[in-house]
Amino acid sequence: MSAQTTPDLAWLNSPSAKFDAFFQSPAPGNSLENFIRPIKIGNVLLPNNLVLAPMAGVTDGSFRLLCSRLGVGYTVSELASSKAIIMQNRQTLEMVRFQSQARPYGVQIFGSEPDTMARAAAIIDQQGICDIIDINMGCPVPKVVKTGAGSALMNTPELAAEIVKRVSEVVTVPVTIKCRIGWSQNSINVKDFVKRMLDSGAKAITVHARTRQAGYSGDAQWEHLEELGQICEDVPFFANGDISEPEHIEELHRRTGCSGYMIGRGCVGRPWLFAELLGHSQFSDPKTRFRVFRHHLIDMLMEYGPKAVPLFRVHLFGYLKNHHNAAKARRILCDERDPHRIIETGQAFFSDLPLPGIT
Ligand SMILES: Cc1cc2nc3c(=O)[nH]c(=O)nc-3n(C[C@H](O)[C@H](O)[C@H](O)COP(=O)(O)O)c2cc1C
Repeated sequence: MSAQTTPDLAWLNSPSAKFDAFFQSPAPGNSLENFIRPIKIGNVLLPNNLVLAPMAGVTDGSFRLLCSRLGVGYTVSELASSKAIIMQNRQTLEMVRFQSQARPYGVQIFGSEPDTMARAAAIIDQQGICDIIDINMGCPVPKVVKTGAGSALMNTPELAAEIVKRVSEVVTVPVTIKCRIGWSQNSINVKDFVKRMLDSGAKAITVHARTRQAGYSGDAQWEHLEELGQICEDVPFFANGDISEPEHIEELHRRTGCSGYMIGRGCVGRPWLFAELLGHSQFSDPKTRFRVFRHHLIDMLMEYGPKAVPLFRVHLFGYLKNHHNAAKARRILCDERDPHRIIETGQAFFSDLPLPGIT
């Protein structure tokens, strides 16, 4: 078999291995071949239309790289404050800059002042660290919305439009937006809002099918995404909210005419979801899944040193979900600080062997 048909999984044993784009190409005969395809945002070509959702505290450099290795076509940074960027805040700049970043990559910024947003976007653009600037119009966190930023921008469409326009004027890369369906159930305005963003020059639209009021709970309201594909015409529209299975891709495409799919919580503890959606079957074996788990932790240790262990916890609990031994494994690992013990317990967990320390 040629190298193309035999993916080399050696990278799983070597977290510093060079990025290999093999899994970003759909497998021949993939059941979703009518839905998953390369796509362009402005002049930026994405190898496929699956996107890793930005998630603060989750989608750091290690996780973005892991998901890219496992096939996702495009990743976006955690939201970064435009004010912090213009003040050259080291922590914020480090958060969006990742040495081994797979491209294309988008940096997401938030704020409510057009001038500050434009200055921040220009700083990021000049560093050449990303291919797209995304503007956050969906964050529900009180600290953010009380400044008029995040999902509060859905209540001030003129301001949101001004931000898109001003940012687009000063950067060389495409500017995109990510919003919700509205502020509350009584003020669902996503269709008009999206039209305005398109008129202001947004080069891709992502909509999380919940209101700000709903936060992250309740089912995503896909019915409010209907017609958005038509409204966006040639501008890519990415559907987001509760996508975790192949049938969700088909259904969303049928109902909304979306051109791409953004996945968040569905891939936490299950980063091989992207490979599965692309028709690659190599990750169904629990032994291979354990190697992904170990690779992920080791990569984080290389990035953060000992701080990696508490940062890994959100992923750890994701990996441990939906398994008959999940509760026991959580109990053993919830305060564990030794990465060797985490790997040892993870190995037993994925192999369905008795967990160390449990009789
Ligand atoms: C812990 C967490 C952090 C998030 N941080 C961001 C963020 O920084 N920027 C953003 O646009 N959305 C953020 N989101 C929203 C996700 O990108 C996504 O829109 C949402 O989780 C719905 O998709 P899902 O159902 O696939 O998870 C976050 C979500 C979660 C759960």
